[in-house]
Amino acid sequence: MENASPAVASSQLVLLILIAGIAGCAQGHLLSQPALELRIQAQEQLISQHNDSAYVQRLMRLSKSAEMRNYMQPELQPCDNFYDYSCGNWAKINPANTASPRETNYEQLLLKGYHHKQQRLLQRSADAAIDAEAVLKLKEFYASCLHYRETPLPVYRQQLLEIVAEFGHMPALALPGQQWPADEFDWVATVARIKRKYGLDILLRLQVSPAGIYVGQPQQIRPQPNRLGRAASIREWLVWNLGVERELAETTSLEITNMEDLVARQMRDIPVGVLARPRTTKELDELYLPVYNLTKYIELVLDRPLNPNDTLYEHVPSYQAHLLDFVAGVSPQMHANYIFYSLLEHFSYQWAGSVVDHCMSKARSLFPELLDNMVLREYGDAATLSDIEAVWLQIKRSFRDMLENDTADWLSLAVRSQLLDQINATRLLVNGHEDVNFTQIYEQLQLKPRDYLHNLRAVLSHDSLKTKMSAAPLTAPSYDAVEKRVLLPVALLQPNYLWSRYYPRALRYGSLGTLLAHELAHSIEDVSHWDHSSMIAYHKRWACFKEQYGRLRLNGEYLPKSDLQAENIADNLAVQVSYHAYSKYLQELAPSALSSEQLPQMTQSPRQLFFISYAQFWCNDSQERFRDRIALLVSYTPSALRVLGALSNLDSFQRDFACISGSPMNSSPKCQLYGLSLD
Ligand SMILES: *[C@@H]1O[C@H](CO)[C@@H](O)[C@H](O)[C@H]1NC(C)=O
Ligand SMILES: *[C@@H]1O[C@H](CO)[C@@H](O)[C@H](O)[C@H]1NC(C)=O
Ligand SMILES: *[C@@H]1O[C@H](CO)[C@@H](O)[C@H](O)[C@H]1NC(C)=O
Ligand SMILES: *[C@@H]1O[C@H](CO)[C@@H](O)[C@H](O)[C@H]1NC(C)=O
Ligand SMILES: *[C@@H]1O[C@H](CO)[C@@H](O)[C@H](O)[C@H]1NC(C)=O
Ligand SMILES: *[C@@H]1O[C@H](CO)[C@@H](O)[C@H](O)[C@H]1NC(C)=O
Ligand SMILES: *[C@@H]1O[C@H](CO)[C@@H](O)[C@H](O)[C@H]1NC(C)=O
Repeated sequence: MENASPAVASSQLVLLILIAGIAGCAQGHLLSQPALELRIQAQEQLISQHNDSAYVQRLMRLSKSAEMRNYMQPELQPCDNFYDYSCGNWAKINPANTASPRETNYEQLLLKGYHHKQQRLLQRSADAAIDAEAVLKLKEFYASCLHYRETPLPVYRQQLLEIVAEFGHMPALALPGQQWPADEFDWVATVARIKRKYGLDILLRLQVSPAGIYVGQPQQIRPQPNRLGRAASIREWLVWNLGVERELAETTSLEITNMEDLVARQMRDIPVGVLARPRTTKELDELYLPVYNLTKYIELVLDRPLNPNDTLYEHVPSYQAHLLDFVAGVSPQMHANYIFYSLLEHFSYQWAGSVVDHCMSKARSLFPELLDNMVLREYGDAATLSDIEAVWLQIKRSFRDMLENDTADWLSLAVRSQLLDQINATRLLVNGHEDVNFTQIYEQLQLKPRDYLHNLRAVLSHDSLKTKMSAAPLTAPSYDAVEKRVLLPVALLQPNYLWSRYYPRALRYGSLGTLLAHELAHSIEDVSHWDHSSMIAYHKRWACFKEQYGRLRLNGEYLPKSDLQAENIADNLAVQVSYHAYSKYLQELAPSALSSEQLPQMTQSPRQLFFISYAQFWCNDSQERFRDRIALLVSYTPSALRVLGALSNLDSFQRDFACISGSPMNSSPKCQLYGLSLD
């Protein structure tokens, strides 16, 4: 598997190389894991807690080197396509599939390690002497989930019927000879009441944030590639879980599948807040009445009338426009079956597959912040946090250097000092929700031992959790403009993936450093208050990026020219600033310590390692069909092109890899917002 030095070829080393260089077993892909992984994880702990640090360092470096080399295609020319050079073997090791995963990337590796840590914490037995009250409740919920398959079918079925009855009648459940009361059905009121009670977004969504009330498209659901298969599984579900008679289940399942498809086809993958339209209730009425009444939806969910001082935003207006046609075209029966089925899906037991996986994923989606907090408490040791804080401070210092450098002279003094203040004011927060009082949040939550469905309903209907901004746990850093802070997800705290105290610093700056710098770059991107001449100069530079990225090609296709250059510009600044910070580190390093900046069995220089680790964070593979869909609605730059775009603007990169002028990674014209490229 790996030609590690024989002196350290213990079984530990073998396992270690497996984790870091997943590459060792090319046939097992990213998301297929179970038992072996846990054993490996346990082993990782053992090794990094070993007290002979020179030994540990040697092992960790060997395994990181193995991992990096595994993803690379060193026979390619770095100056032709640096992404292919760094990530050329990724797809062989972590292939995407038509089914799942449709895309593979480095973030998933981190997430997988993170999920195992969460699982280990949840599986520790509850201990009232150690565990906080909220943690005890979460463990109680999880324990009840592990037993769900022991619930007798009639009891489970009865509970599902009760849930339906809370909101009306499901046509597929009408008894023979009974008429489904179509005139009692009001879809807007039904989905609003479901949202109000359980917080579930069916056909519409509502979220309240400090900025206002967002109403519109639910989180994107992708069309099912295999609709017949989907229909068959819904049919079986209706038969088994609700006791629907087979023939009726057949027609109902086809109708539900068709509806799902119609709905999914109009959805867009846009985070709430991005491109949202401010609206008045009058505007919403003009747009959607009399087909449906969005004001009514909002008021029912909020359980109060709207005030003139409420700020409303419409999220993905094109989706709501589509609902107009769509609602007119389906029968109330179809519509109702779809809504009730979508509701029940959230309460559905899985009769096949791993109970632990199912319960972990429920715990993660229902208690995301508490779980993050548990991991932070367990793993966020002072040394790790201070390592990260140190990188952050150096990145900030680099930003200041950049803005104070004469290559930023095109900015007026006033703008410059405003940007410097902004950089100085931005804080880093490890997003472990330490400011949240979980005791208070879960105080009123009443759970019952061994009654999972009761508990699921209790958690979903638990008051404080419903219309909040959906707390999809962060897996990537983000910038919070309201609080002026960069949020670092707890998953990124995990050492020994992207960075480690055992690895060269090059990797820390190449990965973590650029991620933090990218978010910090977002803190200075708002140009709306700049003076006229700085603004004009900015637009010229911005236009250069727009032209340049419009010339990039992936699989032979050009990227569409886009006015959304903020991400690309942040990428460019990030790698430039983080490289500068790393250079400073190297300059201050004693010559005798320089060897610690190399990796065993790799000939690349420390600066080259910086760039490889940068590129490898963006290694990805995605499945063919999915690729096409992305190309159609590009709102962001594909990862390969992010790497190529940012590096081809950077003199330091070209120098470190000796890319001659005119080679693909060193072609002109180059774009730059601020300077700083001479280190
Ligand atoms: C390292 O651990 C071993 C046993 O695990 C112990 O005998 C030894 O004294 C420890 N060395 C140091 C330097 O702590
Ligand atoms: C829409 O709903 C609002 C709030 O419930 C209500 O005041 C209004 O009369 C409704 N409009 C129509 C045309 O039904
Ligand atoms: C908005 O108006 C309502 C009543 O008109 C009032 O109770 C509420 O305090 C106001 N909210 C804000 C934030 O001004
Ligand atoms: C600008 O940056 C370059 C390269 O890092 C450096 O040599 C120069 O001294 C800087 N100028 C100022 C005014 O800081
Ligand atoms: C940064 O902000 C702190 C207070 O938050 C202030 O004391 C310090 O002087 C500022 N530094 C710069 C360079 O502006
Ligand atoms: C958290 O909330 C509980 C219950 O409301 C309260 O007793 C406790 O003092 C709070 N803790 C903190 C640190 O505010
Ligand atoms: C992942 O890689 C594929 C090519 O394998 C590309 O088409 C796709 O856009 C990439 N996805 C992202 C998020 O960059």
